[in-house]
Amino acid sequence: MKVAVLGFGTVGQGVYEMLHHAKGLEAGPVLVRPGKKDADFKVTTIEAITGDPSVDAVVEVLGGIEPACSWVSAALKAKKHVVTANKALVAAHGPELAALARENGVALLFSAACGGGVPFLHNLALACQSDEVLSVGGILNGTTNYMLDAMQSRGADYADVLKDAQALGYAEADPTADVSGLDALRKIMLACAVAFEKLPCEGLYHEGIVDLAAEDVRDFQSMGYTCRLVAKGGPVDDTVFAFVEPTLVPASAAECAVKDNYNLARYEAKCAGDIVLIGQGAGRFPTASAVLRDLSDVLSGQRMMMPQGCVRVTADCTGCGHPYYVRLPKAFAAQLPCDEVKEDGDIARVITKSITVKEMHDLAAQLRQQGAQVFFAGIEE
Ligand code: HSE
Repeated sequence: MKVAVLGFGTVGQGVYEMLHHAKGLEAGPVLVRPGKKDADFKVTTIEAITGDPSVDAVVEVLGGIEPACSWVSAALKAKKHVVTANKALVAAHGPELAALARENGVALLFSAACGGGVPFLHNLALACQSDEVLSVGGILNGTTNYMLDAMQSRGADYADVLKDAQALGYAEADPTADVSGLDALRKIMLACAVAFEKLPCEGLYHEGIVDLAAEDVRDFQSMGYTCRLVAKGGPVDDTVFAFVEPTLVPASAAECAVKDNYNLARYEAKCAGDIVLIGQGAGRFPTASAVLRDLSDVLSGQRMMMPQGCVRVTADCTGCGHPYYVRLPKAFAAQLPCDEVKEDGDIARVITKSITVKEMHDLAAQLRQQGAQVFFAGIEE
């Protein structure tokens, strides 16, 4: 199967290299921007790929919505199988692209869009065929895990570790999506679509690590906790809940042992119980390996990851709750349902009573509107 590649960045270069050694696969043309064509295997128009009858499949590793959406649509219409690592694209247009793939009798697989090298969506899709999946979640962003691990284990500075994560090829071109939790949110959206046939588009909550300070790290370490950026999703009546937030986990939690750029993706199924997968969640070859796995799945006849009946829903995060650790200026602490308050000069560190995810994220938004600097993290019970 001859495979063209759209994009020649960190992951595109990894895919291209791996294609030269993979069984049953052959490297085809690579689409680059005009001006970046410095070799014969590179082309500069999508038509050079869609119009090439020798190309059987297209890998999209451009990132972003456009031109990725138009080019993936063009490839599907030209009856080329598509494998993409683009979570923003699938979260925004997954159901329509899957319908287009079905119409044209070709595959659309995207396991590299969630979990990097961890074979999460692949196994989740398989599990859904024979078992009932009850929940999905885990650590789904390699950049922030790398940063949190470095800040906690060696006291590294936020700005320095973000630069390191970029240099190592873990972060997105614009790392805002990583550190804000949006990247992990898109991934849990995809996991909900695969597991529950519901793609949540509104009513979602995400909080990242942008406001984390070294003093917070010292404080929750003194309480025996480790901070991880955790995503959770699950069914609620005829919709789902889905959210991402920094989470304080005890030393006994599997998440605590997840280091560097690793991800931990988990699902709970009615018969199988809790399944936990750990591996590198970001980086050139881990992500490229997930793309190549999808291509091998196409060779074996797999066509779809997005369920046919998948519908867009508004998420409901009013049913899940827990206590939170909140650091904020002392003057604002009374607005929180406090269980414990520690004061340190003008700063208060609060452990809240158990409140819902919606309540906490809405409260933080209100406090920030009033000018308060706030960091918060859920506390795993
Ligand atoms: N920026 C992403 C991460 C890449 O750090 O997890 C893999 O999706």
